[in-house]
Amino acid sequence: MEFIIKSGSPEKQRSSCVVVGVFESRKLSLAADLLNRASNQHLMEVIRRGDMEGKAGSTLMLYNVPGVVCERVLLVGLGKEKEFREREYCSAIRTAIKALNETGAIDAILFLTEIAVRKRGVMWNMRQAALVVQDTCYRFDEFKSKRSEVRRSLRKLTFIIERRSKFSDAEEAVRQGSAIAAGVTLAKNLGNLPSNVCNPTYLAERARKMAEESGIGCRILEREELIEEGMGALLAVAQGSHQPPKLVVLSWEGGNEGEKPVVLIGKGITFDTGGISLKPPAEMDEMKYDMCGAASVIGAMHAAAEMKLPLNIIGIIPATENMPGGSATRPGDIVTSLSGQTIEILNTDAEGRLILCDALSYAERFDPELVIDIATLTGACVIALGHVASGLLANNETLARELIAAGDEACDRAWQLPLWEDYQESLKSPFADMSNVGGRPAGTITAACFLSRFARKFDWAHLDIAGTAWKSGADKGATGRPVPLLVHYLLKRADGQQ
Ligand code: BES
Ligand code: MN
Ligand code: ZN
Repeated sequence: MEFIIKSGSPEKQRSSCVVVGVFESRKLSLAADLLNRASNQHLMEVIRRGDMEGKAGSTLMLYNVPGVVCERVLLVGLGKEKEFREREYCSAIRTAIKALNETGAIDAILFLTEIAVRKRGVMWNMRQAALVVQDTCYRFDEFKSKRSEVRRSLRKLTFIIERRSKFSDAEEAVRQGSAIAAGVTLAKNLGNLPSNVCNPTYLAERARKMAEESGIGCRILEREELIEEGMGALLAVAQGSHQPPKLVVLSWEGGNEGEKPVVLIGKGITFDTGGISLKPPAEMDEMKYDMCGAASVIGAMHAAAEMKLPLNIIGIIPATENMPGGSATRPGDIVTSLSGQTIEILNTDAEGRLILCDALSYAERFDPELVIDIATLTGACVIALGHVASGLLANNETLARELIAAGDEACDRAWQLPLWEDYQESLKSPFADMSNVGGRPAGTITAACFLSRFARKFDWAHLDIAGTAWKSGADKGATGRPVPLLVHYLLKRADGQQ
């Protein structure tokens, strides 16, 4: 999609379509009001007839509006003006793009980006618009022998800003939004791939390809090296599979030499059968998404490099399948992790924490400023927070607050759960230093408690994206979350605001 930024009056635009907003109770947005005047009250007439009530999610296409140069005018319902916030703004853009994609319009001029969103400025509006537009146009039809039949003619979008003085800010913001969108798209593409294509070797190669294209360093550790390192927990998960495990290390050196890096760790289980603690069959196909944490690290680093962020960032991706093969780990097996701590594996389906704990220990050698791990870790998180917010747990309150703020700003929210000592008890094992499961209560918290034992040497936050990384049902597919949250966080850090 090509983006253009302009300022100007809606009735004078030459394009296939101008898009303007209408609030509930017949309140016209600034641009809609201008069209209304130019057309001698044509818009108000339509609205009075009851064809457009301004409800959020509604649209109405008008043709040949008198006094207006453009052949189409798309009215987009914005909901109640008082309730128009970040979420409503993004939904309005999404609704507009969906409606445009159903028409033959090849280009459009969006008069939605000038609508004020409380506490957000022009930069935010522009960045978010660029991101939402590309996200809405996403299709995954790589495996259809006939490519999508949906007609998609929209090629060019013009965003309107009120003041010309904001032009360069707006341009920069659109660049940022597009970079984030590219990261989200990459994460979605990787997530949507079936596991017979996206195995650990493939995932590692795609990470390498992204790195090469983006000026990012990449090292891939093979099984022998993992054995040499002593990553007993990661290897225990991998041993039931015919696919060899990988540990991918990405490094973006945008910051000063010697500056401590931000480390991002992503769970890369390319398929989770549960292992010997086999999962029930219903929806097991969705366990192809169990590498979405890894995909989000790849996507976020791609965006960071594209924006040339002045930060040092390390990405670590432990990648393996979790399969119930003949040499698979059995419940009750005891392994020694890279940290030296021993783990009694009581449930082989709690494999995410096993691969992450070795990655966390591995992160120590980079002397990190802070570490964030991202994982589709627990079904319990879906029960607790549904598909709205990612679970957030941290051993540092400032870091937790900053991540929540980044999520709010990115419309990619996270919500914190407590990591109190009291929960640690459930991980006791009579035979090893700890067990890998803490029972059914507070499953998301006890999983994070397990990880916290490997994150004692640095500030650390954990994002449980089990409920947010993909959607089930009719519009099934990876969401690319939490790439927007991560990139907003990195942008803030780069801005030196933290
Ligand atoms: N990948 C799953 C978590 C998951 C389940 C994500 C369903 C999204 C939807 C993870 O490896 C897992 O199996 N976790 C177990 C942990 C339990 C055995 C302590 C779970 O949540 O059931
Ligand atoms: Mn599992
Ligand atoms: Zn898993």
